[in-house]
Amino acid sequence: MHKGKTYVVTGAASGIGAETARILRGAGATVIGVDRNPAAGVDRFHQVDLSDPAAIDALIAALPSGIDGLANIAGVPPTLPAGTVLRVNLFGLQRLTLGLIPKLADGASIANLASLAGFGWAGALEQVKAALALSLGDDIEAFCEDQGLNAAEGGRSYFLGKEALVVWTMQNRWTWRARDITMNCISPGPVDTPILGDFVQTLGDRAEEDMKVMDRAGTPQDVAPVVAFALGKEAKWFRGANLTVDGGMSGHILSNIHGL
Ligand code: NAI
Repeated sequence: MHKGKTYVVTGAASGIGAETARILRGAGATVIGVDRNPAAGVDRFHQVDLSDPAAIDALIAALPSGIDGLANIAGVPPTLPAGTVLRVNLFGLQRLTLGLIPKLADGASIANLASLAGFGWAGALEQVKAALALSLGDDIEAFCEDQGLNAAEGGRSYFLGKEALVVWTMQNRWTWRARDITMNCISPGPVDTPILGDFVQTLGDRAEEDMKVMDRAGTPQDVAPVVAFALGKEAKWFRGANLTVDGGMSGHILSNIHGL
């Protein structure tokens, strides 16, 4: 399915991104890794800060044409300042994706790493729309201040970034349909990677409640195959979808909401 394909994988230095790169290469693909930290286990590597517009634009210029897929996996946890969280997890991702569209091959796939944290987008629609009206070049700090994101507890900026990513993905279900370019997102529940501790720290009791009902946290090996699937031809009728891979957590939350 991936033999002979070329994929760009962001966040390739660690966790889910590193495992995705390993799987794709194992299946015969060439992987171009992107991360702010050095990544082993890729065919080519670009060290880039994906919150920096000029660095993203330089990356786009340096990448070859004919890329078969983009896995947007790089992300930061809610313990960082709200502006940083939104720049990396949402606005930088959007800039890279939109800038790379002309260099994608027809039939290419885009897979965005969202999160179970994006589950509640419908309940935060106005804030999500306000975020989606911005881009990386705008005054993100002013937005965070206006929305009270710096003062908010419980990692609101992280939740907002992931909610907006789920919505943006959905909105772009058919944007590049004439070229058969699809975009979907993957939403894991808690995954045991270096940033899991940051989530637990930010979410406090909520994280403890989640971990009580879950049998275990996920692993990169649980999630990366779903990312690889979303990049492949077999997933071509998924468009604007949110693939939940969360050990049953979204089913659990929905069952509680609907009294099932
Ligand atoms: P990780 O910390 O192992 O990997 C994240 C990678 O992103 C790191 O290699 C890091 O260097 C890179 N990165 C961060 N900021 C960057 C920047 N400014 N420029 C370039 N690269 C940057 O974490 P993990 O868990 O593998 O996270 C991958 C994605 O999965 C993230 O988008 C995260 O939000 C998402 N996710 C993680 C969950 C978890 O519980 N670990 C749950 C749900 C979603």
